Amino acid sequence: MGAAIMKPAPKTYAVKSFGCQMNVYDGERMAELMAEQGLAATDAASADLVILNTCHIREKATEKVYSEIGRLRKDGRKPMIAVAGCVAQAEGEEIARRAKVDVVVGPQAYHNLPELVSTAAEKGLALDTDMPPELKFASLPARRKVGPSAFLTVQEGCDKFCTYCVVPYTRGAEVSRPFAAIVEEARSLVGAGAREITLLGQNVNAWRDADGRGLEKLAETLAEIPGLARIRYTTSHPNDMTDGLIAAHRDLPQLMPFLHLPVQSGNDRVLRAMNRSHSRDSYLRILDRVRAVRPDIALSGDFIVGFPGETEAEFADTLSLVDAVGYAQCFSFKYSPRPGTPAATMDDAVPAEVMDDRLQRLQAALNRDQIAFNRATVGRTCDVLIERTGKYPGQMLGKSPWLQSVIVTGDHAIGDIVTVRIAEAGPNSLMGVVERETPAAA
Ligand code: 5AD
Ligand code: SF4
Repeated sequence: MGAAIMKPAPKTYAVKSFGCQMNVYDGERMAELMAEQGLAATDAASADLVILNTCHIREKATEKVYSEIGRLRKDGRKPMIAVAGCVAQAEGEEIARRAKVDVVVGPQAYHNLPELVSTAAEKGLALDTDMPPELKFASLPARRKVGPSAFLTVQEGCDKFCTYCVVPYTRGAEVSRPFAAIVEEARSLVGAGAREITLLGQNVNAWRDADGRGLEKLAETLAEIPGLARIRYTTSHPNDMTDGLIAAHRDLPQLMPFLHLPVQSGNDRVLRAMNRSHSRDSYLRILDRVRAVRPDIALSGDFIVGFPGETEAEFADTLSLVDAVGYAQCFSFKYSPRPGTPAATMDDAVPAEVMDDRLQRLQAALNRDQIAFNRATVGRTCDVLIERTGKYPGQMLGKSPWLQSVIVTGDHAIGDIVTVRIAEAGPNSLMGVVERETPAAA
């Protein structure tokens, strides 16, 4: 194998995360690990060690890694490069061969990064893509400093095997972290400044502990932590949307009125070909039940257009599902064949220009509904968690319970919760007028 050129032990580091929120979380934990080793954080353009925390979900996301590596080596710079995340897991040695990087580490092995970095400095290429059943979390340092809205991974992996998706291969089987470890991490996040925690998992609502407790029990327990005002969770699968979790949206004030529930398509034949194991109707019935207990809930979803064989009439079913639901926000993608997945060998690829056209029409419908949802909140009063300063002097930016960005003016501290009246709505943000403040220390 074309080995990487050996480099001295790094003194500075930078982490760049691509893709999903779980990668953001993993990236933060990798940074904490390197800081614990005494390395200083800096930007990727000057760091001795750059950790690229990569995404494999679509081809474009994967290609980004290689262009990023090229950029890091511009002007003859030779930083130590560690490829982490799902591309590392999926491509393993191949990525070391192709890009001559120093470290390749999978998403279940990054607690070994310090050791891998030393090995790379002493001997050249170090690789670890093991997926041990026991979780890495126990060997990571405690949380010290976080923003007001923090992520907490509670579940990883996927057993659903949708035919287009690489996640079951890159992240492995569904594994839930133990109850006590999650509660402990939540407490340390709140101690480190978090007022909102988003529980993360590829199938977060499939979280179960050894005693059979589900996500709603976990949320209930976290809600008792003093100072934790808000709880969110993402991403969920329709089949794991239990009665208990739905009821929690009625009973638990800390659980925010927002549900991200991907559907992918509104057509039953396509859903079957995707191996989604829910139908258009069963999905819509779940949303009805959620809305029955929490009428103001903001709904979100993921869509794929141009799955192999998708006809115009089948795509029209996706548009009509969108019309029926009225989403607050959504993510939509063109189908991207991923090596090793069953869909990659299916016939009847949808031509690129047809995919482009469908994506455009779908996004127009989703944008229309997002604006309508935002406009419907004008005149309402709600709490906003202040997360950062705004674009212009005197402005602060926070989130509504429905996950909308809200701009307010005035001198508020990051981490404050202010009660605002929504005065104006744009497609991507709202303007709020502050009526009352709850300081961060309250
Ligand atoms: N092509 C396009 N989109 C995909 N997704 C997952 N795999 C693919 C693929 N091969 C989308 C799904 C999923 C989201 C995280 O990414 O919509 O919910
Ligand atoms: Fe991928 Fe389907 Fe699992 Fe989601 S549920 S991670 S889309 S296989």
